[in-house]
Amino acid sequence: MDNPTTTRGSILRNSVILGLFAMATVGLIAVTQQGTAERISEAQRRVQLSALNEILPHEQHDNDLLGDSFSVDDYPQLRLSDARDGYRARQNGEVVAVILPVVAPEGYSGRIDLLVGIYADGSVAGVRAVSHRETPGLGDKVEIGKSQWVLEFNGKSLSMPVPENWAVKKDGGNFDQFTGATITPRAVVKAVYQSLEYFADHRSILLQLPAEESTNGN
Ligand SMILES: Cc1cc2nc3c(=O)[nH]c(=O)nc-3n(C[C@H](O)[C@H](O)[C@H](O)COP(=O)(O)O)c2cc1C
Repeated sequence: MDNPTTTRGSILRNSVILGLFAMATVGLIAVTQQGTAERISEAQRRVQLSALNEILPHEQHDNDLLGDSFSVDDYPQLRLSDARDGYRARQNGEVVAVILPVVAPEGYSGRIDLLVGIYADGSVAGVRAVSHRETPGLGDKVEIGKSQWVLEFNGKSLSMPVPENWAVKKDGGNFDQFTGATITPRAVVKAVYQSLEYFADHRSILLQLPAEESTNGN
């Protein structure tokens, strides 16, 4: 028969070992999670930076875009789920363009995160999809690495084409759809148009125009 004192000692020892093992596991998971989160956010930062530089190449501004950010606080207008950073491009201190974070919520597989660059005159400098879950071979043509489709937006504005033509061709508009995939481009066209409207509504603040100029109907 076992000695009760020895049995209790053995249970206690095993409990302590189990407890230590559980603590070590939790610690390891926490460290791994933190490392993964840091790697993901670093990867996202790199995608963001490369998109910014593609939309507004160095020769179009003399400031550091990442260092000249502002918070888009009225984010619901751009369909963002929280406040995100926008960026100003400057030449000799004057804001020549802004890059806005915008969400197209009606993608085939949900939200498509976009960056939309807009020159001070209200025309599109460039559009890039920075995150999406659209189908490879169909909706993923929204990515510049997969097709040149997003370049169709360059130079467009609220009046060119006229508002009725801010739609895919299948809906009577000016923008191409993808073969077998209309939902993705339809969602992106709508979101880019909305970002131009947002820019027009907030132009003086976004461009940091002096008070006098900003009251002149801009
Ligand atoms: C598995 C699967 C994945 C699809 N992925 C996309 C997609 O990523 N983007 C898209 O626009 N359409 C996608 N489609 C096609 C859409 O269901 C739809 O038929 C197409 O966009 C045409 O839309 P429309 O009838 O409104 O013009 C997919 C269809 C299937 C069956």
